[in-house]
Amino acid sequence: MVGPSAQNFDNLHKSEDMRWMGQNTNHLPAHPLVKEALLKGIHDQSYNLYAPPQGLEELREQVLRDLVGPNRSHGTQVLITDGAVEGLYLVCKRLSDENTTLVTTDPTWVWPLNFSRNEGANISRLPIYDKAKNYKLDPQELESQLSLNKKSIIYLIDPLNPLGSCYDLDELTRIAEVAKKYDAVVVHDCTYRDFAFEHFLMRDLYPEKTITTYSFSKWLGIAGLRTGAIIADEALFEHLVDDQPNILGSNILGQLAAIAAFKVKREWVDQVNLVQRRNQDIIKGAVDLLAGLNPVVYPSNGNFLAVDCVDSGVSANAIAEELLRRGIFVRTSDYHSDILKDVFLKISTTVPEEWADQFAEELPGVLEKCSTK
Ligand SMILES: Cc1ncc(COP(=O)(O)O)c(C=O)c1O
Repeated sequence: MVGPSAQNFDNLHKSEDMRWMGQNTNHLPAHPLVKEALLKGIHDQSYNLYAPPQGLEELREQVLRDLVGPNRSHGTQVLITDGAVEGLYLVCKRLSDENTTLVTTDPTWVWPLNFSRNEGANISRLPIYDKAKNYKLDPQELESQLSLNKKSIIYLIDPLNPLGSCYDLDELTRIAEVAKKYDAVVVHDCTYRDFAFEHFLMRDLYPEKTITTYSFSKWLGIAGLRTGAIIADEALFEHLVDDQPNILGSNILGQLAAIAAFKVKREWVDQVNLVQRRNQDIIKGAVDLLAGLNPVVYPSNGNFLAVDCVDSGVSANAIAEELLRRGIFVRTSDYHSDILKDVFLKISTTVPEEWADQFAEELPGVLEKCSTK
């Protein structure tokens, strides 16, 4: 495992005033309606019961409305999952075998790669850490790769954790054309969609072979309640749910929180983005004053900012370790890449303003300390 080991993570969890700025979790005060729904759920002991296998009907409908809108194609289905990651596990398990290649970017979010690899799939990671590529998957390189494969899954994270790049309609259309040509399935991981300035859906271009993954962890701030979803058209959906692991339903409190949150989603997301983009600005301001540190994609379309450390001559991991000693947890590129071992920091921004301010204040001293080591 990259990053802190399970044991270290356990210890970090015990620390009461850790600044969690590495996992893109949302630490802003919950909306009162969401808190109220959670408290009611506890009071009513709603958790005595299993939730319906595919999720609470009202929530499934809300996810569809949020993602697909009123003009949905017939047969679009939603499965509520224990976080997006469980949906990704199901997708990778059901669609991968030794004849499959899962194609993704480098850097990426690595866990689905493991899920597919464990089913015998090959993994192909196309390098995108390159300004000339705008830190995005290049359709031509994708095509070259797909032409070599018997059967392909494209794992497309958009906006991309860890860099914050996001595909415009033209770019997405070109990827869809390549996917169609080679009959590849696209797993469009939209975990960070609500932080993007503008976002488009692969399923609007290629519904028959797209699985969209959805998370409540980041925009809503309920990572610990493990609630997410996958969305697909009927044929693909039926194939997936045939082996559904959460057959007894998903976390009911998470679903109640999500139902309440949809009632105020627009105002809530606007407020969250106001704070997190302000935090991006503060972090960028601090980074700009330090020679050799450079934001990678700015502004980021995610609730995080990647900062390249190479020109500073200081190791990103050394900076992260020194920040951790000062109570600030951030991620480094080795968590996301096979080849970028010690290149960039990733700092999450859905945090109270004081946390971002503290990061900005500490950073010069941290860099100085690491430079003189
Ligand atoms: C790209 C990506 N997909 C999926 C997930 C998992 O989301 P969830 O918390 O809903 O399981 C994460 C979590 O960080 C992520 O970065």
